[in-house]
Amino acid sequence: MDKIVIHGGRPLTGEVAISGAKNSALPLLFATLLASGIHRLRNVPRLRDIDTVEKLLTGFGARIVADRNGLEIDAGAIESLEAPYELVRTMRASVLALGPLLARFGRARVSLPGGCAIGARPINLHLKGLEILGAEITLDHGYVEAKATQLRGAPIYLDMPSVGATENLMMTATLAQGETILENAACEPEIVDLANALRDMGAVIEGDGSDKIHIQGVDALAPLDYQVMPDRIEAGTFMIAAAITGGNILLRGCTLEHQDALVSKLHQAGVDVELVAEGVRVRGPQQLQPVNIKTLPHPGFPTDMQAQFMALMSLAGGTSTITETVFENRFMHVCELQRMGANISIDGRCATVRGVRELLGAPVMATDLRASASLILAGLAADNTTEISRVYHLDRGYERIEEKLQGLGADIRRVAAQ
Ligand code: EPZ
Repeated sequence: MDKIVIHGGRPLTGEVAISGAKNSALPLLFATLLASGIHRLRNVPRLRDIDTVEKLLTGFGARIVADRNGLEIDAGAIESLEAPYELVRTMRASVLALGPLLARFGRARVSLPGGCAIGARPINLHLKGLEILGAEITLDHGYVEAKATQLRGAPIYLDMPSVGATENLMMTATLAQGETILENAACEPEIVDLANALRDMGAVIEGDGSDKIHIQGVDALAPLDYQVMPDRIEAGTFMIAAAITGGNILLRGCTLEHQDALVSKLHQAGVDVELVAEGVRVRGPQQLQPVNIKTLPHPGFPTDMQAQFMALMSLAGGTSTITETVFENRFMHVCELQRMGANISIDGRCATVRGVRELLGAPVMATDLRASASLILAGLAADNTTEISRVYHLDRGYERIEEKLQGLGADIRRVAAQ
């Protein structure tokens, strides 16, 4: 397994291009299953998770061609309706194949994803919603079997504003007979990106971006031709890279849209974040200020930025509290940060971070995607050398991150496994 080695202490300068959003590209790729024909998707990030979806789609029978503009997906000749365990277990978002396959073909067989490092991550809300739309759901040896002769639109109240359940049910409802209303829906910007693409395919959707989404079913959809939105979590991660190293960088290819919660907390920490003509300019302060955060569904502080923000607060001039309300086990980065000298204590879902003067380079281990990012950020600021193992977690969600950081002056390299 590859490692990443960082010699920290260098303020980052220069500019970096932000890639397309992983958490938008994934549902958009599954949406191509809703319609035959040639779909075109641009600004697709090159990530392990994208590779996994491509394997799933070709396993169903789709044909995919990659070119410098993005991906061309021919979803005309779908022969298999099964998403196998060996792929689903590597990427939970595979459950998003369930709705589109069921909506277009009346049947789907998708492995249960199982848990992951940050939590149990059940899919009960996905399955309950599909049953309300008329699907017959059975569990068979670790697989979800879904069948429906005719899906009918209906009101669905989501017990939690689940991003994945909102996406799965919104896609399914586009081909159901009649109107579906998703209540207590997730409001993340990636939901709006997906709804825009579905409208581009001929779907009738209103209210996306709010907690109440109306979908009027249609008989068939046309192929999509769509550009993926910028990745707000990658952008936020690079903002913190500038902040934690006292650097000054320009993020190209993104704006501050949908970033209010994060930017407000960065401003409180003394970080200068400014929208400029070419993108977003971020300057780190000489001394970071402590800030309290609590993760919440959008538009609250994003849970996907919690680990990165904790690395930042470990160097603040005071004490911060970080409360994780979305996932039950998303503090796996804490003990690794402690190995680097961070002073953090945990009480249930709340972490107390007492800022230290400096972090110390050390060998650490990545445990999940955003925990890996937080260790990279800590390594950029730490003295001496930090060696991060199990970086395959990182490759799931960040495109060429060490190259992008090298371009900003970081002393960082990937060491192939011996
Ligand atoms: C999406 O995951 C993102 N992944 C996650 O990003 C992100 O952290 C999460 O939304 C929250 O914003 C993708 O978009 C591919 P949820 P998802 O369903 O859809 C519970 C990253 O780092 N829940 O909104 O799986 C669940 O256990 C990843 O890029 C149920 O109980 O998140 C969790 O506690 C990590 N039953 C909460 O809801 C269900 O049926 C939020 O989960 C579904 C979810």
